Amino acid sequence: MNTLAIATAREVFDLLRDDLVAIEQELGRDAASGVSTITEIAEYLREGGGKRIRPSLLLLSSHLLGYSGQGAIRLGAVVEMVHTATLVHDDIIDGADTRRGRPSANTTWGNEKCVLAGDWLYMQAFKVALEEKNLRVLDLLIGLTQQMVEGELLQIQKLGKAVSEAEYYDLIFRKTACLFAVSMRLGAVLAGATEAEEASLAAYGRTVGLAFQIVDDVLDLTATEQVLGKPVASDLREGKATLSVIHSIDHGTASDRQTIQRVLDDRSFENVSRQQIQEILVRNGSVEYAMSVADRYAKQSIKALAPLPNSEFKRALLWLPDFVVARDK
Ligand code: IPE
Ligand code: IPE
Ligand code: MG
Ligand code: MG
Repeated sequence: MNTLAIATAREVFDLLRDDLVAIEQELGRDAASGVSTITEIAEYLREGGGKRIRPSLLLLSSHLLGYSGQGAIRLGAVVEMVHTATLVHDDIIDGADTRRGRPSANTTWGNEKCVLAGDWLYMQAFKVALEEKNLRVLDLLIGLTQQMVEGELLQIQKLGKAVSEAEYYDLIFRKTACLFAVSMRLGAVLAGATEAEEASLAAYGRTVGLAFQIVDDVLDLTATEQVLGKPVASDLREGKATLSVIHSIDHGTASDRQTIQRVLDDRSFENVSRQQIQEILVRNGSVEYAMSVADRYAKQSIKALAPLPNSEFKRALLWLPDFVVARDK
C-alpha cells in the first residue's frame, strides 16, 4: 500500500480500534467513586460518547514513534477525562442544556454537584497520570489545565466585547488547541521522542486544535442542534464574538457593527434576529473567511509532519485535519 495515500475514517478507526476499546475500559474503571452521585455523573458523561479525538491523537503520536505500551491507554483516558471535566464546567458557565445529543449533566444534577464532579474528574485524571511516574507528564498536564482555566476565565472577561482576531486566537489556543498539542506531546514523551520530534508533533496538535475550534465556532452559527447535539447560535447569545463575527465587525459597514454589538450587549436575539446576523455574515463573506483560516491551519498541520517517518500512523494524522475542517458535528 502506498504509505502516503489518503486514509479514510474507517481505516483510521480500524488502526486504533483495539486501543480505543482499551481506553473505554480504562475510562469505565476510572469513573468509579465511593460517593454514588460522583459515579452516576461520571458514568453519564462517559456513556455520552463523543468523538474521542484527543485520545486518538495521543495514540497516533505515540505509535508514530514506535511506542506500544499501556501508558498510551492510560494517558489516552487521562486526556479524555481532562476534556470531559472542562465540558462539565463549560456547560455550567455557558448555561448549556444539551451535550452530545442528551441533556447536559448540569440540567439533571444541577450546577453545585456538577462543579464538584468536574473537580473530581480532574483529580482522577491526575491520579491515573501519576501511574506513569514521569514528572514531565505531570508538568504538561498541570500547565495544560492552567491554560484551559485561564482561557475560560479570559473568555468571561471578554464577554460582550468585539475582541480582536489576535485575542481570539490566544483564547482558542488556551481553551482548545493546547489540549490537542499536549495530547500529541504526551504521545511523544511516552515514545522517548527527540526534542525536534516532540516539537513537530506539538505544532501539528496546536494547528489542528485551532482549526478544530474555528470550525466549532462556525458550526455554532451554521449547524442545527439536531445534528450538532448541543445548542446552536449560543455563542452570540452568550456575548461571545467568534472569528466570523469578528470578521464582519472588522470589515462590515458601521451599521453591521452596531447590529452585531446590539446582540452582544443584549445577549439575546430579542432586538436583532438570527436572520439579520446571518445576512451580515453572508454579505461580508465572513463564514468563508473563518473556514479559509481553518483550512490554512489544517494545511500548516500537515506541513508540521514533514520531518516524521512515513507509516500508517502518519497517514492517519495526515487525514485528520481535513476531517476536522469538513465535519458537521
Ligand atoms: C467540544 O469538543 C469542545 C470544544 C473544544 C469545541 P468535541 O467536539 O471534541 O466534543 P466531543 O468529545 O466530541 O463531544
Ligand atoms: C469550550 O468552547 C471549549 C472547552 C475547552 C470546554 P465552547 O463553549 O465553544 O465549546 P462547546 O461549543 O460548548 O462544546
Ligand atoms: Mg460551551
Ligand atoms: Mg462551541
